[in-house]
Amino acid sequence: MTAQRLGINVDHVATLRNARGEFYPDPVQAALLAIEAGADGITIHLREDRRHIRDADVFAMKAAISKPLNFEMAATEEMVRIALEARPHAACIVPEKRTEVTTEGGLDVAGHAAELEPMVRRLAAAGIRVSMFVDPDPAQLRASAAIGAAVVELHTGSYAHGAPGELDRLIAAASVTRELGLECHAGHGLTFANVAPVAVIPEVMELNIGHFLIGQAVFDGLPAVVRRMKALMRAARGG
Ligand code: PXP
Repeated sequence: MTAQRLGINVDHVATLRNARGEFYPDPVQAALLAIEAGADGITIHLREDRRHIRDADVFAMKAAISKPLNFEMAATEEMVRIALEARPHAACIVPEKRTEVTTEGGLDVAGHAAELEPMVRRLAAAGIRVSMFVDPDPAQLRASAAIGAAVVELHTGSYAHGAPGELDRLIAAASVTRELGLECHAGHGLTFANVAPVAVIPEVMELNIGHFLIGQAVFDGLPAVVRRMKALMRAARGG
């Protein structure tokens, strides 16, 4: 089976920094350490309210890291402008406003295709790989392909919360991405305990994991938690 990438989301290093208004801990330093420990990429979400990552972090991160930067962003003109300036490897469009969110928490691409399509096309034209963060719902996958996204990230939040039937929905959705020619990623709420059944899905090329790992790093250290998560992913895919 093809190797699966692990993107480490360092947003909550910035949450901790901002809680005291200090300059530490530094999300860039966390990213460099995660990469040294085997992370294949770094994910950051510049929220509209700047509650964790701030504008300067985006540019500092892009300049500092040797692995791909995945920029999570709301579908707003402001964020498109920042993405076009920062030139991350990838941009993952995520919902931030209530009206854009489906029942399970993914972006309602099917319901907002007309507004989303021009943004996706502009980002893609700049050489940024565009991903849509969606529920494992074939209608959302088809809508993502139709507006020109190269990638979808399947929202694993309901699975992580133990909703019945969710793993089967993720498996079925991953197989639909193959038919549509979309690269398939997954993330949200993944932990050491629940990662394996998602990691083993053959189409899933990348997992993006943040909150659990940054929390667990308090006990075990960041390099150790990155190495353990990568080992669990490799083991799930048969070594
Ligand atoms: N993928 C996307 C698109 C996200 O927005 C997030 C953060 O909510 C994650 C993955 C990582 O989720 P978590 O922090 O729960 O691991």
